[in-house]
Amino acid sequence: MLASVAAEPSKWIYGGFALEYRGWVTGVPRPPDGCAQDVELVRLALTGEGVDVALLDVEHLADIESTAARYLTPLEREEYAGLRLETRRREWLAARVCLKTMLLERRCVSDPTRCAIVKDAAGRPRLVFAEPPAESVHDCSLSHKGRFACAGASRLAATRLGVDIEEISPRLLRIERAFARDRDRPFRARPTQERLALLWALKEACAKAVGSGLGFAMGAVSCEEAEEGRHHVRTEDGRQFRGRHVVHDGYVVALCLTEDEPCAGVE
Ligand SMILES: CC(C)(COP(=O)(O)OP(=O)(O)OC[C@H]1O[C@@H](n2cnc3c(N)ncnc32)[C@H](O)[C@@H]1OP(=O)(O)O)[C@@H](O)C(=O)NCCC(=O)NCCS
Repeated sequence: MLASVAAEPSKWIYGGFALEYRGWVTGVPRPPDGCAQDVELVRLALTGEGVDVALLDVEHLADIESTAARYLTPLEREEYAGLRLETRRREWLAARVCLKTMLLERRCVSDPTRCAIVKDAAGRPRLVFAEPPAESVHDCSLSHKGRFACAGASRLAATRLGVDIEEISPRLLRIERAFARDRDRPFRARPTQERLALLWALKEACAKAVGSGLGFAMGAVSCEEAEEGRHHVRTEDGRQFRGRHVVHDGYVVALCLTEDEPCAGVE
């Protein structure tokens, strides 16, 4: 199987389309079976309706170099090699291990090196596959903060998603006015730090679903919590998103979904 892909390095699949994937190197040894079994994900209640969201405790990645060797494609390893800071290497790798483990557990791929996470020009991640996945995965999103890396994946063709994780801490108190507005309506009163972490994470998740990158006007996004943990998120130009959040171990994890903007095709 590996040999046939190596012979045709350009035939990688993205969202059901063939995609040219430069950088495949022949002769890469197949990693040992069972990658999914040695990584324990935290399943979140955000999972459902064709979307998976999970966390990986970054501190549980024992030997990051051997993990990188098992989970990354050659091109991903090049990107990883360019990261200098230990904390950045760990969070970057953990987010990818989290996403690929979800795909392994769903049996979308049989081996983590058979799919790669690549970025568009704005930095938005997307998946490419060496073979058509058993079940299509059309969109993905990554986040990391402190102890956790977070990954989301959508199996719905026309659903873009964004995920964000934010620690409940005093960090956002001094920049509250930059992103929290009167028109943000929580379902119930919450401690200030939790409310700010929630708003921040929802708006960042929205920015990631849009994919426009730095400069996205956080203040121009409004959030209305229709029921506990379920939000209507709107941008000033009229785009609407379904938002959801959960609190896990002192962190808020937010998910934003939009159905009216299909995932980008092949570039
Ligand atoms: C790009 C951005 C969404 C990243 O968020 P962050 O909180 O700094 O970092 P997170 O760990 O949550 O997310 C990082 C991941 O987002 C993803 N990402 C980067 N650019 C992205 C984009 N344009 N669209 C979607 N996802 C993107 C990447 O996968 C990245 O992980 P990686 O580097 O390991 O691949 C954020 O910096 C941003 O631009 N937000 C827009 C709103 C804004 O301007 N906020 C500033 C304060 S008002």
